[in-house]
Amino acid sequence: MDIDKITVIGGFARNGEKEPLEGIELHMGDVVSIVGPTGSGKTALINDIGLFADNNTPTQRRILINDAPPPATFREDPSKNPIALITQHTTFLSDLPVYKFLGLHARIRKTSRPESIVEETLDFANQLTGEPIITDSAMTELSGGQTRALLIADAVVIGNSPIILLDEIENAGIDRTRALELLRKYRKIFIFVTHDLRIALLSSYRLVMHEGAMQCVIVTEEEEKRMAEKFKTLDEVMLYFRNQIRAGERLSEEELRKRLQLAQSFLLGEEIP
Ligand SMILES: Nc1ncnc2c1ncn2[C@@H]1O[C@H](COP(=O)(O)OP(=O)(O)O)[C@@H](O)[C@H]1O
Ligand SMILES: [Mg+2]
Repeated sequence: MDIDKITVIGGFARNGEKEPLEGIELHMGDVVSIVGPTGSGKTALINDIGLFADNNTPTQRRILINDAPPPATFREDPSKNPIALITQHTTFLSDLPVYKFLGLHARIRKTSRPESIVEETLDFANQLTGEPIITDSAMTELSGGQTRALLIADAVVIGNSPIILLDEIENAGIDRTRALELLRKYRKIFIFVTHDLRIALLSSYRLVMHEGAMQCVIVTEEEEKRMAEKFKTLDEVMLYFRNQIRAGERLSEEELRKRLQLAQSFLLGEEIP
């Protein structure tokens, strides 16, 4: 079944009132962020989507796929489930070496090119994480960042899931900008729960949560897209010093001054017509 859209039919906020947003449609190709303070119901919302909620969760929401209730096979047969949910707590339970695990998954998925798809998955994962994955190491030996990177790559490439839900992966050692760039090449619905400025601004739109309810949708217009580019320049200054720390170096104010001046002339230079 080709998935064109997911509909979330609104339910009730935590206080029992109807959600301000009656519903929302997510279309194939959309990159969506879900934003809101801690406790505002972000995880509950993506769990609703992941479970194909049908009035049977605390929020009373309902999920439709292509305007209809999802077929039972989505819930019953893991190989037919179109949704991959990746959270901070998701881990691999297998202690197989990385290449064996991926090869096994590729065969279960009956892919026509088991070898090249494993390569592609590893390559993808390695672009997401700063610490290259050694393919002989056991899955259980991977760091948090490597695990998250491999889970995403596995879901996108081998799992070929059309809908990918990511719950606050930003603290897990993933290169967020790179991830967005790479993910956009695959035609899927990506839903990020995020507090990250750049992930939010690189999304097509963001859904605002408050007190357990969907409040509104903010579409990323040109002004915010231009700002995303500038935040990237500022991020790079921070990244430079973070890497200095990691490399065991001392930081210098002189270097900071130089880098800020460069960033400033670049940022302001762009603004003068
Ligand atoms: N609409 C709702 N109705 C009832 N309980 C809700 C609703 N939305 C969220 N909750 C509950 O509120 C708590 C916090 O929500 P959660 O989704 O974990 O917030 P966040 O991920 O934004 O920090 C959870 O226990 C969740 O089950
Ligand atoms: Mg949460």
